Amino acid sequence: MQSVIVVFSQTGNTLKLAERIREGIAAEWGECELVALEKAGGIDFAEYDLVGLGCPSFYCKEPFNVTDFIEALPQLDGKNWFVFASHGCEMGPVLVSMAERLADKGVTVIGSTHVYGDAFLPFYPHPTYTTGHPLEKDLDQACEFGKTMAKNSVAIANGQKDLIAPPTLEHIPDWAQKDRVNLSREIMPKIMPRFAINQDECIQCGQCEDLCPVDGIDISADPPKIQDPCIYCFMCAKSCPECAIEADWSGMVKMAPGNYARYLVSLKAAEARGEFQFMVDPDSINFDDPMHVQQVRKKNA
Ligand SMILES: Cc1cc2nc3c(=O)[nH]c(=O)nc-3n(C[C@H](O)[C@H](O)[C@H](O)COP(=O)(O)O)c2cc1C
Ligand code: SF4
Ligand code: SF4
Repeated sequence: MQSVIVVFSQTGNTLKLAERIREGIAAEWGECELVALEKAGGIDFAEYDLVGLGCPSFYCKEPFNVTDFIEALPQLDGKNWFVFASHGCEMGPVLVSMAERLADKGVTVIGSTHVYGDAFLPFYPHPTYTTGHPLEKDLDQACEFGKTMAKNSVAIANGQKDLIAPPTLEHIPDWAQKDRVNLSREIMPKIMPRFAINQDECIQCGQCEDLCPVDGIDISADPPKIQDPCIYCFMCAKSCPECAIEADWSGMVKMAPGNYARYLVSLKAAEARGEFQFMVDPDSINFDDPMHVQQVRKKNA
């Protein structure tokens, strides 16, 4: 049996999940390939018995580069795929969003899984509510999930259609379902802060260009080109060693306590279901010290 897992991961959480799922599939089938999304363009997925696609939740859905990846797939009628995600406080309908897009390609989404992960956003404080995740016990479950996907895909191919279990919207709050629409590709450029490179601070190291997942940055252009196309991952701003990528984060910082109040409701509900465990004291989160301020302080230390 042939299987491949395609993953987009920037800070390693989804990659950890992918590696453990891969381990589970390999335990059943002997092997399973693991490929980064940016290298997956040339794969002929029709040749595989089982494919997994995973990413972080960005704005309650899959990042736009993952959307583009799915949209570019050929028709794959009847092929068995599963989807997975890592996320911070509220993943929203990310899994459903991916599954619906894959269904449009004729794919049968036979299962899904997810884990909590630490989150780094310039306008939010760090540590955050999910710092300390993913937990080892959640990753162990991911390995079991991989085994189940391998076994189920064989049974489903042999006609046991009742094993098909696509993701659902159970436990996803209304606001997060609306964010999938409210934070669409068309709307994001209108509401997100614009980045600018402070050329007095930039040392031309090229790190932002290398880390941008969509080739959205050209540091050698005059003026440097940044943020077009963009998936609003903030990787460039977060990783610049000189803090030279600047943006007016004040509006987002102001919204943080309100957003976190909603996140806490989601996390407490997940805690009550036995699906989440706080590894930091939620009362210790310092909204006056967002990540972008912490980074400048660290640079100047
Ligand atoms: C730009 C951005 C948007 C995010 N949006 C959400 C979100 O809507 N819901 C959520 O639960 N986590 C959100 N997160 C947190 C990530 O999903 C989480 O950190 C994830 O584990 C990162 O995966 P990675 O380590 O594989 O890159 C966001 C993170 C970033 C950087
Ligand atoms: S990462 Fe920062 S310092 Fe390096 S090229 Fe980009 S903007 Fe300049
Ligand atoms: S320009 Fe920056 S925020 Fe936009 S996709 Fe590239 S790294 Fe992410």
